[in-house]
Amino acid sequence: MHSEQFDDIYFSRQDGLAESRYVFQGGNNLPQAWAGRDHFCIFETGFGTGLNILAVWKLFEETTEAHQRLDLMSVEKYPLSRDQIRAALAPWDLQPYLDRLLDLYPLRIPGFHRINLSDRVTLTLIFDDVHDALPQMNTAIDAWFLDGFAPAKNPDMWSPALFAQMARLSAPGATLASFTAVGHVRRGLKEAGFAIERRKGFGWKYHMTAGVFAGPAQGRSANPVRRSGTVAVVGAGLAGLSAAWHLKRAGFDVAVYDDAGVAAGASGNSAGIMNPKLTAQRSAQSDWYAFAYDYALRFIRDLGVPLRACGSLHLQTSDDKRRKFEAYAANLNWHADHMALLDDASDVAGVPVHVPCLFYPDAAVTSPRAVCAALARGLDIRKGTPLGDVVVLANGAGVKDFCDLPIESVRGQVSRLRASVPNKTNLCYGGYLTPENDDGTHMCGATFQPWDRDASVRDDDHARNVAQLKAAIPAIGDVSVVDGWTGFRAAAKDRHPVVGVCGDYVVSVAHGSHGLISGIAAGAVVAAILSGQPMPAGADAINSLDPARFRK
Ligand SMILES: Cc1cc2nc3c(=O)[nH]c(=O)nc-3n(C[C@H](O)[C@H](O)[C@H](O)COP(=O)(O)OP(=O)(O)OC[C@H]3O[C@@H](n4cnc5c(N)ncnc54)[C@H](O)[C@@H]3O)c2cc1C
Ligand SMILES: C[S@@+](CC[C@H](N)C(=O)[O-])C[C@H]1O[C@@H](n2cnc3c(N)ncnc32)[C@H](O)[C@@H]1O
Repeated sequence: MHSEQFDDIYFSRQDGLAESRYVFQGGNNLPQAWAGRDHFCIFETGFGTGLNILAVWKLFEETTEAHQRLDLMSVEKYPLSRDQIRAALAPWDLQPYLDRLLDLYPLRIPGFHRINLSDRVTLTLIFDDVHDALPQMNTAIDAWFLDGFAPAKNPDMWSPALFAQMARLSAPGATLASFTAVGHVRRGLKEAGFAIERRKGFGWKYHMTAGVFAGPAQGRSANPVRRSGTVAVVGAGLAGLSAAWHLKRAGFDVAVYDDAGVAAGASGNSAGIMNPKLTAQRSAQSDWYAFAYDYALRFIRDLGVPLRACGSLHLQTSDDKRRKFEAYAANLNWHADHMALLDDASDVAGVPVHVPCLFYPDAAVTSPRAVCAALARGLDIRKGTPLGDVVVLANGAGVKDFCDLPIESVRGQVSRLRASVPNKTNLCYGGYLTPENDDGTHMCGATFQPWDRDASVRDDDHARNVAQLKAAIPAIGDVSVVDGWTGFRAAAKDRHPVVGVCGDYVVSVAHGSHGLISGIAAGAVVAAILSGQPMPAGADAINSLDPARFRK
């Protein structure tokens, strides 16, 4: 397979799999290097088709014991499509590994993507330039796979900045391997602190490079992975149950405490939409939501909960919205498969829409209540006083009883209704309307009433939801309300989620109006905080969630 951008090949024409084993596995002394290790972490420059990653994952499954865990990390500036990967890897028998990867292959949008490949193996795939990705990491790396096209074809990558980041992130005794043995690469790696050896290359190639980090450890020890101890999670909504699911996967003994039972709070809704929340320029905040959107879509599908990927159309109802949508499309660098500006969206919508729209084809609708039920099935759910070595608070605005955080409770009412001209996608216009459900109803939401404590379902709020819908999409025709539901979202003063350490607790709260993506994704962050395993998202995105921001 050949790259247009770099005018180079992805792997050996002779035998890419044999080359991968010889250069990257052999060069890093695998599988011997992970023998006896509870946790091992590999970073690769240049994911490409995923051949190296699949091959080393297979080796790990074949040569390790049940308690051992592998974190794979890889970066790719120009992600290939699923079809391209399947075609490129067709010559090798990598099933079922290839099928699992492609099943969970992320959206081609910049930033971090977390893939739970198996119970023991996790891939963090970063779609960015390696020079932007590495500064976002704080994980100690045990083995480096230096792939990424020949230095002559790709000089920007093989730079002192890369080697300095490798030194920053190397665990003591970290190894590296590369197919190239070009002089300036070997010299650069030596200067960064690696002891370098030139070995016989694969096939007809004269040389390759292997090395060991011998420089001063830059405050980094092998990841101090913790997997024992009991964790009490307070709150059985999306945030608490996802935290518990990820903690259990990381090896903890977890119980979830909620006197009201599962999904008794804001997560009790029967239909919610999964949309990203972006900013005009790439920012820590929009990186968080881009990560959460991609992760939660794949996570919920993998959980086996029905998720309808109907897409979402965001109506350009004002000049301000037009400017914002144009900025997303121009600045955020999402692949056209995942974001598009449509002048006429009526065909996609299934109903006449009289303004241009921003379209997210992957956006979805699912039942938060069903997601909670599926998560709860594998968990220990209790009532009573939370007992554990660590307590995770995922109890919405109730967190204020334990931590001093500026979080408020915001009432919302949704209306379940029938419409005479049914739409095919989610329609978002300030409020939102989901497509017709199996029972012929749509969910129309939602009011936003921070001042209101009334938990009843009210006719005047139904009227408000319907009026907002009809004003935005007059063609929706006759609408009749069937029933409704009221809940209370927890929202922080700055309207951004709050996830991290707060005093004696770890918290995951304030997921606001995007709990279906943020609450789910935050579970992976909570598990990384407590286990010491790599963060699923970049450092800026994770730091943006930190409760400490309110103490500055
Ligand atoms: C009307 C409405 C519509 C929405 N629509 C969408 C949507 O379309 N898409 C989307 O992404 N998001 C939507 N949301 C937001 C989303 O539902 C929430 O962000 C999400 O459910 C929050 O999950 P959570 O686990 O943080 O909180 P909750 O689900 O509220 O869970 C907190 C739990 O903590 C428990 N608890 C409280 N105090 C204690 C205590 N002291 N001890 C033990 N347990 C305690 C409560 O019983 C509760 O079950 C909507 C919200 C509302 C209200
Ligand atoms: C030789 S291919 C990698 C083959 C891959 N390891 C595999 O198993 O298929 C090199 C890859 O590095 C990517 N790449 C090159 N420069 C990069 C950079 N600066 N940051 C991130 N990825 C880069 C290319 O897009 C390409 O996919």
